[in-house]
Amino acid sequence: MIDPLVNTFEKKFLHKPRIFRAPGRINLIGEHTDYNDGFVMPAAIDKSVKLAITKRPDNQAIIYALDLNEEKSFSINNTTPTKDWSTYIQGVVHGFQQRGLKPQGFEAVFTSDIPVGAGLSSSAALCSAFAFALNEIFQFGLDRLSLAKIAQYAEHHFAGVKCGLMDQYASLFGKENSVILLDCRQEQHEYFPLQLVSHSLLLIDSKVKHSLALSAYNKRREACELAVSIIKKDNSTVNSLRDIPLNLLERYKDKMPAEAYKRSHFIVQEISRTQAAADLLKTNALTAFGKLMYETHEGLSKEYEVSCAESDLLVQIARQHAITGARMMGGGFGGCTINLVQNEYLEKFKDEVLRLYKDAFVIEPAFYEVSIKNGVHEITNL
Ligand code: GLA
Repeated sequence: MIDPLVNTFEKKFLHKPRIFRAPGRINLIGEHTDYNDGFVMPAAIDKSVKLAITKRPDNQAIIYALDLNEEKSFSINNTTPTKDWSTYIQGVVHGFQQRGLKPQGFEAVFTSDIPVGAGLSSSAALCSAFAFALNEIFQFGLDRLSLAKIAQYAEHHFAGVKCGLMDQYASLFGKENSVILLDCRQEQHEYFPLQLVSHSLLLIDSKVKHSLALSAYNKRREACELAVSIIKKDNSTVNSLRDIPLNLLERYKDKMPAEAYKRSHFIVQEISRTQAAADLLKTNALTAFGKLMYETHEGLSKEYEVSCAESDLLVQIARQHAITGARMMGGGFGGCTINLVQNEYLEKFKDEVLRLYKDAFVIEPAFYEVSIKNGVHEITNL
């Protein structure tokens, strides 16, 4: 993978680049809780963006997307949101500038094996790759948390997605064979070694991404904020759904729009579920952990309403085949499901999914058996 990247860079720019790798992520449990100050449990994976880069003496950014055979350039002092992939990089540059830092120009080539639209955070990986690399080549000295926030800034202000911090955090803080329990309020994490014993983590790509995804995501966030603002009127210490226990939410059921209640009801439960799941992981209680994954899916589908027929069917097939755990993963409206599958059932399960999913939707799903890797880093030993 690295060689075509380096070759292309050297042919185009006639010198040697520095190389960085930024992974995509999975999330075991804790969905849509990040922007509600809750807990999430992501991990960085073995699919990544690889970036070759050096600085330039002028103020031009020239970037070549190897997989698309497409080049974009912009002036560092004139960043602006666009409809193409360069918007993420312009957003990252602007994120540094917002902090009073002044990147010069740079030239870069990147490639990625993270499927786009599959819920594996390909855009967060792209932003994290550039944030990390620019911080290195211009020696700004920012820590990983600040870089995650710059990457998130790009999503918010240059891509229009009011996402939480999970994806960028996972890409930057990932640790081989461990999941991250991230407390999104404290912005602190603990690592848990993931001992899968006789299980595998299987992602099933539904190969659909419904166009609703972006606007629906921002709307879910607004519904949660509305519930908080209503409860906060009488409870000044409440700042997010993290501060709202179920019994308090129930008392306000009739004082808020039904939609705001339904969305918040899922989130309040999902926050406690993620804490419970972390306890289960400490004792490697995978069966009980898997049950929580199914509960999460149910809530995402019925209450938070971010699933779709395709993801629901994939989870239903898993349930019918007594797979330990399964749920839709990420923002929703398609993308991948994450499955905790007993190794002895793995091949049979894949065959069944292939058959039943194809029968229902005439789409061939893709399977990714992922492994857990380190977060963004420089590659020095080519
Ligand atoms: C997307 C967002 C994340 C998170 C998930 C849902 O991946 O980028 O911040 O909210 O959806 O858990």
